[in-house]
Amino acid sequence: MDKLAIEGGGELRGEVRISGAKNAALPILCASLLTAEPLVLSNVPQLNDVRTMGSLLSQMGVRSEKSDGSLTLSAAKVDWPLAPYEMVKTMRASILALGPLLARCGEARVSLPGGCAIGLRPVDQHIKGLQAMGAEIDLDHGYIDARAAHLSGTQFVFDVVTVTGTENLMMAATLAAGTTALGNAAREPEVVDLAECLKAMGARISGAGSDRIVIEGVETLHGAHHSIMPDRIETGTFLAAAAAAGGDVALLGARADTLQSVLDKLIEAGAEVSADAAAIRIKRQDKLKSVTMRTTPFPGFPTDMQAQLMALMTVADDTAVITETIFENRMMHVQELKRLGADIEVEGNTAIVKGVPRLTGATVMATDLRASACLVIAGLIAEGETVIDRIYHLDRGYERIEEKLSALGARIRRVA
Ligand code: EPU
Repeated sequence: MDKLAIEGGGELRGEVRISGAKNAALPILCASLLTAEPLVLSNVPQLNDVRTMGSLLSQMGVRSEKSDGSLTLSAAKVDWPLAPYEMVKTMRASILALGPLLARCGEARVSLPGGCAIGLRPVDQHIKGLQAMGAEIDLDHGYIDARAAHLSGTQFVFDVVTVTGTENLMMAATLAAGTTALGNAAREPEVVDLAECLKAMGARISGAGSDRIVIEGVETLHGAHHSIMPDRIETGTFLAAAAAAGGDVALLGARADTLQSVLDKLIEAGAEVSADAAAIRIKRQDKLKSVTMRTTPFPGFPTDMQAQLMALMTVADDTAVITETIFENRMMHVQELKRLGADIEVEGNTAIVKGVPRLTGATVMATDLRASACLVIAGLIAEGETVIDRIYHLDRGYERIEEKLSALGARIRRVA
């Protein structure tokens, strides 16, 4: 199993290009199920989760072809509207096939995702929303069995803000009869990117990016070209790494409007940040300041950046208070940060992080994707060598992270 070895202590300097967003690419790949015509995608990140989604779609009968940096998906026929347990257990985002399959084929059988490391993560809102659109849904031996001769427009208000729930229902509603209004919808930029792709395919959608999305169903969707938005969490991770290590880094292609809350916290912590249409640049020379932060749905501070901010706070000047409100078990990086010498106490879903003068290298274990990114940042500032085990989590969601960090001067290598 691959590990990452990091020799900490150096600054980061230079430029790095941000990849396409994992969490935009995954629903957009599923959107290909909604049309018999080819969907041509560019800026698709090369990640294990994207490859897993590609295999899932190919099992359903979707043909894919790569050329010149673009990926063409053709769902001329969907032979097998099934997302089996083996796929869903490795990637929960497989649930995103449910809405499109049901809308296109009138039936779908998708394994219920179980709990995962960061929390229980139920999908009741996806199911309730599809039922409100007229689907008959049974839970059978761990599978969601859904049928609908045709879906009908509806008014549906989510009980909780859910990103993939909003995406699933928005996709299903594009081919439903009549108008669907989704209230308390997720406002995340990835929802907007999916809506842009669906609109290019002929869908009629307004309000994406607000908490009320209105979709007027159409008979069919057609082929389109769409370029995936830059990854705001990869961007935030590199920004946090540069703020932690110090130096001067430019992130090419990054979009400041998709992560203002993260930029604000980094500025509060003492980093200098500037942004234009081409890049976000970060510099940090002075001592880091401790900040208080709560995760909330967009436009608040993203849960997917909580662990990385915590790594930064381990060496800040005072006490930082970090509260996780989205997932019930997303503090597993704390134990590992402590192995590196961090002073952190967890009370419920709040971490109290007392800044220490320095971290020291040790062997640590990655427990989930963003926890792994947090440990990479901690490794970059720790004295001596940090070895991170189980980095397959990182490969799910970061494209060539060690190459990109090496290009910025980090001493990081992959070891078998
Ligand atoms: N929830 C329910 N019922 C539902 C759906 C969600 O109670 O039917 C709860 C969840 O348990 C959680 C909260 O609502 O407490 C928010 O979960 P959400 O559904 O928004 O999460 P998700 O859609 O499963 C996406 C991202 C996650 C990211 C979250 C929150 C994708 C593929 N995944 O997950 O990304 O953390 O939104 O922003 O878009 C990651 O990339 O590392 C990652 C975990």
